[in-house]
Amino acid sequence: MTTQERLIETYRKKAKRYDITSRLYPAPGYPQRTQRLRAVHALGLRPGDTVVDMACGTGLNFPLLEKVVGPGGRIVGVDLTDAMLARAQDRVKTNGWTNVSLVQADAADFDFPAGVNAILSTYAMTQVPECAEVIAHGARALSGGGRWVVLDLKVPGSTPGWLAQLGTAAVRPFAAIDEWIMRRPWEAIRAAMQEELDDPSWTELSGGTAFLAAGSSRPNEGAQPGT
Ligand SMILES: C[S@@+](CC[C@H](N)C(=O)[O-])C[C@H]1O[C@@H](n2cnc3c(N)ncnc32)[C@H](O)[C@@H]1O
Repeated sequence: MTTQERLIETYRKKAKRYDITSRLYPAPGYPQRTQRLRAVHALGLRPGDTVVDMACGTGLNFPLLEKVVGPGGRIVGVDLTDAMLARAQDRVKTNGWTNVSLVQADAADFDFPAGVNAILSTYAMTQVPECAEVIAHGARALSGGGRWVVLDLKVPGSTPGWLAQLGTAAVRPFAAIDEWIMRRPWEAIRAAMQEELDDPSWTELSGGTAFLAAGSSRPNEGAQPGT
């Protein structure tokens, strides 16, 4: 079984109860909602904007995004796992939103629509081995001044290896925790954001257990709609 197949299998099992179990993610009382609000705020969205939610899962960010883009805006939710997208579709239907498109795709292969105003990814990009390429592809698709924002978990700088392993055992879905800690994917994300975007910012949250990485598209690289 490939890593991608294992990941899909894991999230198929989690999908049904994800909205409840994720409230305990990565630990009970963790300020996940506050972090999400910060991430959405960092997108600088305005009514009528188009935003891609990369690895959107069940669409927990959608209500926050809807509030800022409004009915005249557009949300494109992308995820690898069919069952997670099915839950996202339920959410769209329940809320009567008509401006959300859902796409089943691997982030690594996703063809970002040109001229999007913002791209968000929450609690997912450190699971994507090709995260640097995904950030580069997204940066090229952003409209002039468009924003890329990544929120995800990390291991705090001063944490001993064994403690990091214990702490992340709860959140990493399969036996790749060692690999995740060793690979330190948040560093690749930070480097890619610095490489690809203007005014890159990096903020450690909740004692260094999470990060918010953000940046704007370079003025001369802003894609035009339809190009
Ligand atoms: C922890 S969940 C986060 C979901 C959502 N972003 C949130 O904040 O609740 C991780 C999601 O990433 C998706 N995912 C993992 N690797 C992916 C990839 N390579 N391409 C697209 N989606 C991916 C999984 O299917 C899952 O829905």
